[in-house]
Amino acid sequence: MAKLYVNPKVKKGHINPELQGHFSEHLGRCIYEGIYVGENSEIPNVNGMRTDVVEALKEIRVPVLRWPGGCFADEYHWKDGIGPKEGRKKMINTHWGGVVEDNSFGTHEFMELCRQLGCKTYINGNLGSGTVQEMSEWVEYMTFDGVSPMADLRKENGHEKPWTVDYFGVGNESWGCGGNMRPEFYGDMYRRYQTYVRNYDSKKPISKIACGANADDYHWTDKVLETTFDHGNGFMGGMSLHYYTIPTGTWGKKGSALVFDEKDWYRTLKATLKMETLIRRHGAIMDQYDPEKKIGMVIDEWGTWYDVEPGTNPGFLYQQNTMRDALVAGLNLNLFNKNCDRVKMANIAQMVNVLQAVILTEGEKMAKTPTWHVFDLYKYHQDGELVESSIETREVGLEEAYRIPDLSESVSLGKDGRLHVTVTNASLADHAEIEGCFAETTIKAVRGRILAGEMHAHNTFEEPDAIHTTEFTEFTVEGNKVCFTLPACSVLHLELEIS
Ligand code: AHR
Repeated sequence: MAKLYVNPKVKKGHINPELQGHFSEHLGRCIYEGIYVGENSEIPNVNGMRTDVVEALKEIRVPVLRWPGGCFADEYHWKDGIGPKEGRKKMINTHWGGVVEDNSFGTHEFMELCRQLGCKTYINGNLGSGTVQEMSEWVEYMTFDGVSPMADLRKENGHEKPWTVDYFGVGNESWGCGGNMRPEFYGDMYRRYQTYVRNYDSKKPISKIACGANADDYHWTDKVLETTFDHGNGFMGGMSLHYYTIPTGTWGKKGSALVFDEKDWYRTLKATLKMETLIRRHGAIMDQYDPEKKIGMVIDEWGTWYDVEPGTNPGFLYQQNTMRDALVAGLNLNLFNKNCDRVKMANIAQMVNVLQAVILTEGEKMAKTPTWHVFDLYKYHQDGELVESSIETREVGLEEAYRIPDLSESVSLGKDGRLHVTVTNASLADHAEIEGCFAETTIKAVRGRILAGEMHAHNTFEEPDAIHTTEFTEFTVEGNKVCFTLPACSVLHLELEIS
């Protein structure tokens, strides 16, 4: 019997809803087809946004959306995407698939999407190939409520009032596709560009996000902070970190999303758990400059990255999504919760049809992936208080180098006054008997939902509901204890009414 200890009286930090954020890039069929079909499409839509997709995203309470990239962001010139659509520039998306980008989805459309989703906005600016003036004018265009050339242009284009920009990324992957810079150079560029990301509304200051490291590039974190730190309030709200789960650990041959064996399962989850080390070690460097943890770690690209589905455009990064992805999501989301003192936002890559998508579309058809179902189980953590918890684990796996703990957990006290417990079981062979002890707690009622299935289980357009969550009843309650049986290969949410 594995012990799960929870102490609801010991609060460990606030779980920003943004830990369950999303990322949408002009890449493959994420924006076009996946989200935006245009007002004249036969696919039901509101102002061009597909109704089915928006409804599914609202169900999981998308808290924040990052756009327009990714690598695309550092080649994006925002003025190409405003004004009458027929006059917008057509160009080739050189980064992703070499297809025509007609700019029909631009700033106004992104803001409309966020309005429909009811989520915060995270715009990623172009530092790689754009000018300071261009970045500065974009911010003015979006957020200035007064008389100015850019505010007037916005009004001419049909939007009288400014929008709220919650987060603004100053460059993306500036160490790579965003300009191949060295950290000291980027640090200086950040200082310069961010100066002109003005806060026109002091009541809604923009949180500026600096480009952080690629995976375990600790030198980048150290040098960027050394170059930029100590410039007073508002200088830097967060610093990004990008880390993708690649089953083979090599970019050349990443492995298939659907065709994998048990060894690949454990290798993938082992690779995912590297996130814990990355948070700890980048966090330790951040602590040296910012012990009060004012700068958030913003993991604005995470998820699985496999070889594309056979027959699809290699530049579209389209992949299927199985129970393996569900476990990757469950493990990562538990980790983000448990490090919520430093991790302030995380954005899965990407929202629709790209990499570890929560939704897949084909024509008018749509399927929610197992990853969508995990977000649906975890949404109750949003805005909760992390409480102290620990779970007893044992090592599972087939190869010595790829053994992992079978269980992971996180627990929060929600605004609804209930305790929300999420637990994953990564073992393919064994269920787990768990005894949950909730210190100084009177348990009045328990409800549960679970996602469980065979490791390859996934949804298709023919069978969009092949794998989904079900009510979980395999538990008993006695005093302040809940004993439950967690099947192999599963993700669980328990909700406890307490007093
Ligand atoms: O998410 C796909 C790409 O991965 C992004 O454009 C880039 O930032 C990262 O390398």
